[in-house]
Amino acid sequence: MNLTTPISAAEATRRPRLPDAQTVTSVTHWNVHLFSFRVTRPQSLRFRSGEFLMIGLPGENGRPLLRAYSIASPNWDDGLEFFSIKVPDGPLTSRLQHIAVGDQVIVRPKPVGTLVLDALLPGKRLYLVATGTGVAPFASLVRDPEVYEKFDEVILTHTARTVSALEYSRVLVDGIYRDGILREIVGDKLRYYPTTTREQTAKTGRITHLISSGEVFADLGLPRFDPSIDRVMICGSMALNMDMKAILEGAGFCEGSNSEPGSYVVEKAFVG
Ligand code: A2P
Repeated sequence: MNLTTPISAAEATRRPRLPDAQTVTSVTHWNVHLFSFRVTRPQSLRFRSGEFLMIGLPGENGRPLLRAYSIASPNWDDGLEFFSIKVPDGPLTSRLQHIAVGDQVIVRPKPVGTLVLDALLPGKRLYLVATGTGVAPFASLVRDPEVYEKFDEVILTHTARTVSALEYSRVLVDGIYRDGILREIVGDKLRYYPTTTREQTAKTGRITHLISSGEVFADLGLPRFDPSIDRVMICGSMALNMDMKAILEGAGFCEGSNSEPGSYVVEKAFVG
């Protein structure tokens, strides 16, 4: 891991700005494919945990090159955090992966999205099912006290090909228990269930297979999905989302939205 030295918010605000630009305050490279970074937060920006923003860099033609990025930081955080893949020939991420502390990133302050508590009916247990960078919106939600007011149990599953691709969520969960205030709020309500598919670890296999076989529930000592009390948020590749939707609809869950809450919600993990 390569953690660059963070700069203070005061130092960041002294630097010159493009319209809607925020200053990078730290960058962490998790492996050759993944990195996360923090930027200053626009003072007026309010968002609901789980939402995304359009962010990017000035393009070659002077027009901004923007992509949707889930906000990975909780809504009480002074800064904004994002978790991204590095696509070698991706128009944005091929450049974004080289950002450094003090650089500017365009952040359009218009948060939107369906992975929000408002789109779910009241329930007892919240499952957050992520693959790859799809864990980003859940990194925000699992640090939001409101989640623990609304649910008795929160299960974060994160599946990736390799151990290094799970490091972001491992450090995230570890950080919750290292933080005195968060630890008290979260108590023993949060369960973390990491799995890998292309490297041998304690738990291997696609989450969809582990759910269908019942292995997840056996491992966690929980009953199978029950649409009357369980709520599910899904964020991953299109294929994961489709497979999870089929599993949930087969179990009697209905998809929720901001205007009509349901028992599950889904969003594509954005590719920068
Ligand atoms: P797999 O290695 O079996 O393809 P990616 O790196 O391609 O974005 O994938 C991230 C993780 O999501 C991988 O562990 C991958 O497993 C898993 N995955 C991809 N498609 C599905 C799917 N349809 N259902 C469940 N897991 C999936």
